[in-house]
Amino acid sequence: MTDTNPTSGSASSPSLENLLHETRSFPPSAEFAAQANAQADLYEKASADRLEFWAGQARELVTWKTPFTETLDWSGAPVARWFADGTLNAAYNAVDRHVEAGHGDRVAIHFEGEPGDTRTVTYADLQQEVSRAANALTALGVQTGDRVVIYLPMLVESVVAMLACARIGAPHSVVFGGFSADALRSRVADAEATLVITADGGYRRGAPSALKPAVDEALAPKEGADPTTVRKVLVVRRTEQDVDWVEGRDVWWHEALAEASDQHEPVAVEAEHPLFILYTSGTTGKPKGILHTTGGYLTQAAYTHRNVFDLKPETDVYWCTADVGWVTGHSYVVYGPLVNGATQVLYEGTPDTPHRGRWWELIEKYKVSILYTAPTAIRTCMKWGDDIPGGFDLSSLRVLGSVGEPINPEAWMWYRRVIGGDKAPIVDTWWQTETGAIMISPLPGVTATKPGSAQVALPGIAATVVDDEAQPVPDGGGGYLVLTEPWPSMLRGIWGDLERYKETYWSRFEGLYFAGDGAKKDEDGDIWLLGRVDDVMNVSGHRLSTTEIESALVSHEIVAEAAVVGAADDTTGQAVVAFVILRGSHAGRASTPEGAAEVQKELRDHVGKEIGPIAKPKKILVVPELPKTRSGKIMRRLLRDVAEDRAVGDATTLADSSVMDLITAGLAAPSASSED
Ligand code: WT7
Repeated sequence: MTDTNPTSGSASSPSLENLLHETRSFPPSAEFAAQANAQADLYEKASADRLEFWAGQARELVTWKTPFTETLDWSGAPVARWFADGTLNAAYNAVDRHVEAGHGDRVAIHFEGEPGDTRTVTYADLQQEVSRAANALTALGVQTGDRVVIYLPMLVESVVAMLACARIGAPHSVVFGGFSADALRSRVADAEATLVITADGGYRRGAPSALKPAVDEALAPKEGADPTTVRKVLVVRRTEQDVDWVEGRDVWWHEALAEASDQHEPVAVEAEHPLFILYTSGTTGKPKGILHTTGGYLTQAAYTHRNVFDLKPETDVYWCTADVGWVTGHSYVVYGPLVNGATQVLYEGTPDTPHRGRWWELIEKYKVSILYTAPTAIRTCMKWGDDIPGGFDLSSLRVLGSVGEPINPEAWMWYRRVIGGDKAPIVDTWWQTETGAIMISPLPGVTATKPGSAQVALPGIAATVVDDEAQPVPDGGGGYLVLTEPWPSMLRGIWGDLERYKETYWSRFEGLYFAGDGAKKDEDGDIWLLGRVDDVMNVSGHRLSTTEIESALVSHEIVAEAAVVGAADDTTGQAVVAFVILRGSHAGRASTPEGAAEVQKELRDHVGKEIGPIAKPKKILVVPELPKTRSGKIMRRLLRDVAEDRAVGDATTLADSSVMDLITAGLAAPSASSED
């Protein structure tokens, strides 16, 4: 198109932005669109009668023991009840019904250990193993309603353990294996779990790493702490490492399963029976136990997995690289794919062991057709260079997914071109631990995708962007992301703390769910996520709380005060940067480069021990003062300027405006930084 009269103003001529946007929008191919599970009419069906739409999905995608008659009860808002008079079992839906339908020989899981060992698990195998595990849990005294903590690496047993809990109606709480003994202790205590499932260890970066010692430490008596509620610990043998053994408490998983029958009748539970609790960082120091229930969660996990990834269970090989310790692993490794009868890859290790092409090698080997991963991983692979994936046959890939943080357009374009062969649609999926399943995403056969934007709410979901007064912003405007209608897989609360649930999500805007994310709407009405607007950081797609890390730092004897910010980082999205004031007698320790490096190492290790390696600050800067307002609030915005090497912004509201000069002057020299 040409503009014949460049002086006629912008109204009739395409703006540069529009042109750019046109070339940067990728409609689905006619072939993909014709065969896609989700067609454009899905939006119309959903908006014609939202509740009837969800009821239809729940009947079609999930098998009920007792059919439900009521779709949504919102009278107890903001705690929803979906399909509440129906009963069902999640493990039956994920496993048995596929066997009953004649698909017992279908591969459920292609397991690949980091050392290269493999295991193929069919749906029939899974049914037997989950049944054995369910019987073993019952034999160990676990009853319907009891909480079980799962602290495992990425193994077939992790999936089996979760499903075994679901089979007997015992809510599981998976704690990511990278969390410390202290973090495990507080989660076990908050959930009042009676049993922990763990392993001797797993393989990571070419070597066995231990897991059981952290469990022993977490359950050991501790001064000032209540005695643990845990009676039994089931231990998976993975690495042949020696483990300490507590007689009467510890039981080998393989022995318990060997003694158990492979016949087990799944326990039908009410739709609102708790399926799991998953802890996530909030704005305060104490992690929140996000509670999900059974019927609505399974419905939306299956619905989104089928439509967003266009899953064809007979022919696709699906791979989600997330760990089961995060919500992505719950919804898109365990429940969504298995309820849909998918065949998937499960990989224990890291992308660069034993070489940087490991992921691409796995895609070639198993002919993976759907890949779901995080922007951090994409950016890391991008840094390693095109020739690494270029050395493998990735032509089986037909849908690519992204999750966890905003994906920058450069990484999006690289993902599309180098991994997707310029043809596989990319679905950028926005959701949260709290939402349980995907909320905002393109539909791969319908939406013309745009690099960097998650675009539109899925059929059945209502999302918008509002300003400070809760008014929807016009196209082109920015504000806060909110969800305006309840959805089936929404959290039902924070474990043991209903008030905090209301306060955190429902008090900012009357009647609207506040997600904590900033967002804007472009001229087409598409949504772009802009990152957190609260004190939550997003590092490699993992949520970390600034307050939690600050508490960990000040619990160290040499620290007087600490302030933590998330600074922009090319690979991890954000990186943790800490500013600390040392206590009087230790203040001099950071005055030489060696001293500063030593202090930094001590404090990083301390945070690793208190929370886990993922929370270790990338940089720790020792400073004489912290910038505070007259009311004593730390101005993190100014610290972020320092951490991101920018000129410091407006500091006029500081109680003492010279503080920033003191900080920046002092930083010219010693404090070292670290990368691991
Ligand atoms: C936060 C939720 C959802 C599973 C993994 C993270 C950010 C998530 C996107 C996306 C931009 C995203 C948000 C959200 N986020 N997906 N596609 N684009 N931001 O789950 O730990 O509960 O974190 O992750 O900030 O609030 P989570």
